Amino acid sequence: MILRINIGAFVLSPELGSLVESLKGDRLFLRSTIAVHDGGAKGAVEHLSSNSTPELLIIETTAKGDSLFDELSGLADVCAPGTRVILVGAENDVNLFKTLIDQGISQYFVGVPDEEDLKAAVMAAFVDKQQSDKSRVVAVAGIRGGVGSSVIAHNVAVELANISKDDVIIVDLDIHYGTAALNFNIQPQSTIVDALAQSGSIDEVLLTRFLEKCTENVSVLSSPGSLGTGVEISMANLEPVLGLVKQMASYVVLDLPHIWNNWVQDVLVDADETILVGTPDLYNLRDGKNIVEFLSPHRGVDAPINLVLNRTGQIKKGEIKNKEFRDVLAIAPSISIPYDPDAFSAAMNNGEPLRSRSKATSAISELAKLVSGKSKEDASKGIGTAKEKGGLFSSLFKKK
Ligand SMILES: Nc1ncnc2c1ncn2[C@@H]1O[C@H](COP(=O)(O)OP(=O)(O)O)[C@@H](O)[C@H]1O
Ligand SMILES: [Mg+2]
Repeated sequence: MILRINIGAFVLSPELGSLVESLKGDRLFLRSTIAVHDGGAKGAVEHLSSNSTPELLIIETTAKGDSLFDELSGLADVCAPGTRVILVGAENDVNLFKTLIDQGISQYFVGVPDEEDLKAAVMAAFVDKQQSDKSRVVAVAGIRGGVGSSVIAHNVAVELANISKDDVIIVDLDIHYGTAALNFNIQPQSTIVDALAQSGSIDEVLLTRFLEKCTENVSVLSSPGSLGTGVEISMANLEPVLGLVKQMASYVVLDLPHIWNNWVQDVLVDADETILVGTPDLYNLRDGKNIVEFLSPHRGVDAPINLVLNRTGQIKKGEIKNKEFRDVLAIAPSISIPYDPDAFSAAMNNGEPLRSRSKATSAISELAKLVSGKSKEDASKGIGTAKEKGGLFSSLFKKK
């Protein structure tokens, strides 16, 4: 999960300053902006009287009793309503804590908290924002071209729909060579190119028109699969489209082309689950190492990459084993999918998902289960205990 928020911290102690600075390296804040200023609550009032308010303020104060409430009401005068506030104070008093929480302060810490507690407080403060994305995003890319990443993406999508009995949208991001429409035997009237061309004004109604139904629960935003489209993907035109798609299904499966540029990197870093597909040979070992070394630090330890070795058993001699991938890439392959030309070519020629029960199809079901997040979600139920937030200032004004 990644938060896109502006955070302004107004600190008094170097400890809190460096704690907030350290959040910049955390995956949770990858897309957030964090600015640390000195001066505590007074500094905040001064700064915010002539600058816009960040969505989250982290304020350090030594004020106690009435002067603490004076400071907060001074702050309320210069802040946008709805601003979330985490307060780091000096007074250890349960009643004070209760009053502050009651007034809409997201969290009150006595003294500088540790990093995990601060992160938990920020997540709790933006629990509504986290819930606004309905879906889990699964990005699928090949270490090299032709390794099977698209066919795996499409079949994982079908399996995710089977597991969840819920809607899944595939977005074919390979504008020139995409195969989703072929693999589901559809002739799309509109494609991702239409969506990107109108990304400035696109809404759910329009996007729904661009989607084609593949199966009961799976729809696809196809690629035209042609050369002269005149549209290039960028983060600027892709983000609005993906933002909408994420509201429209439980799972969004992103089928990425084999290219390496900024938007592809962003998608691979941002996705809830990233599946990297390779075949067990030396080229994939080298290129896989490069990709994993780039992505792993950006995704962080909480969001490891799912490495998939495909077409195993195809080369009789000289296949690179799982252990070597694990040693070189420092991640073990999550799943191996055997070479199964009968099943894959039948599916391709018929324009339908894999049908036959085989080791390859079972491996793809396993992969879908792995990225479905079902077990992880169950384990993390109960996170976000904070009260529903309306922001500090609405409540302060309400009390007056
Ligand atoms: N495990 C497999 N066994 C046999 N053929 C496979 C397997 N995985 C993929 N293929 C075939 O490999 C070809 C390339 O797959 P594709 O998904 O288009 O690759 P990519 O998207 O990585 O370029 C397709 O014809 C596909 O059916
Ligand atoms: Mg592909």
